[in-house]
Amino acid sequence: MRAVDIIIKKRDKGELTREEIEFFINGFVAGDVTDYQASAFAMAVVLNGMTPQETTDLTLVMAHSGQMLDLSDTVDFAVDKHSSGGVGDKTSLAVLPIVAACGLPVGKMSGRGLGFSGGTLDKLESIPGYRVNLSTDEFKKQLKDKGVVLAGQSLDLAPADGKLYALRDVTGTVQSMPLIASSIMCKKLAGGANAIVLDVKTGLGAFMETLDDARVLANLMVDIGKLAGREVVALLSDMNQPLGNAVGNSLEFIEAIETLQGGGPKDFVEHCLHVSAHMLVLGKRAKGLAEGRVMAEKSIANGSAFEKLRVLVEAQGGDVSYVDDTSKFPRAKFVEVVNAPRNGSISQVQARSVGEASVTLGAGRAKKSDPVDRSVGIIIHHKVGDKVEKGEPLFTIHANDETKLAEVREVVLAAHSFSDDVVAPLPLFYT
Ligand code: URA
Repeated sequence: MRAVDIIIKKRDKGELTREEIEFFINGFVAGDVTDYQASAFAMAVVLNGMTPQETTDLTLVMAHSGQMLDLSDTVDFAVDKHSSGGVGDKTSLAVLPIVAACGLPVGKMSGRGLGFSGGTLDKLESIPGYRVNLSTDEFKKQLKDKGVVLAGQSLDLAPADGKLYALRDVTGTVQSMPLIASSIMCKKLAGGANAIVLDVKTGLGAFMETLDDARVLANLMVDIGKLAGREVVALLSDMNQPLGNAVGNSLEFIEAIETLQGGGPKDFVEHCLHVSAHMLVLGKRAKGLAEGRVMAEKSIANGSAFEKLRVLVEAQGGDVSYVDDTSKFPRAKFVEVVNAPRNGSISQVQARSVGEASVTLGAGRAKKSDPVDRSVGIIIHHKVGDKVEKGEPLFTIHANDETKLAEVREVVLAAHSFSDDVVAPLPLFYT
């Protein structure tokens, strides 16, 4: 077999066999298939898609490209979560401590920024010293001892996804149902989860823009999970506007901390409580969603969720004084408040434009090797449905470069639409 023939077959809309996928992916991990061949393959998949059988095969091959974690000697039941990617999605930073504080040990492998969507690892690294690269033994030990782990993909687990993910970020090959489904599910399967909550985003700032596409992605991932013997719940959540207010690495981490301290934007708090409740039900700590939600609320109110975040940061070598004093987070040189140009109700805050603007400021990557600027980003001050008056703050830009600031000012302004009529707020979840 030759890698080039497999690329050509997919380019010409052929259906790949399990053996061909195995040959290509294992060759990629071994270094026999090059980055440019893997990029071409990914683009062929973006353009021509994959059948459910190919997607399942790709997922299982990527999951088995490294070690398959067995957590049965570490926790009674491992529950995991994953988002399909969005703008301002700092959910894991708040939900993991909440759930762990409610007595459900939780360890998660997260990713870096992908295209216009931010990544939990890049946010975590806003705290000096925070180690995202844990060995499997360290992961398991911390899960057992501290009940909470938030790390990157170790070199041992699903290395095929680790390598492909970094290429997809910078080759325009993120937006593909089979690539997203296999990327998410291979990590969850290799990570040893017994049950998984999938947060599938839909809307202008999601990789699946329509609800129908998001539903197909959700069903595909649920089917793959079931086939592998895991319990999977998929939520469909709105991503037309950014989640919460902050977009950008440090800014988002600070918002997650504020949320765990009982503050935080209303939509983000609601989102976290709902995801947490589902995890607590799957993990058999709560009998139903209502009870799970009350548990999650209590963990915030009594400070135990915030304390779990401190435990997490400390356990992974991070400087916990940042959690206690968020003014220590890296700050950008220029902070500019942009005011509303008119009176009216906000009818749109185009999430993708805001995400792309944040990447322009340096919060994401243009090339695989690019460093990420943790300090830059955007804070939106209003959500769809809010009434604003001309001259009141609409958003704030945190930038380290004046030219980029000027560019982003126009983009984020254009991302906002106004109406003279009353506008209903967007739903948080869809059924
Ligand atoms: N999250 C992932 O882990 N992979 C994707 O492809 C998209 C979101």
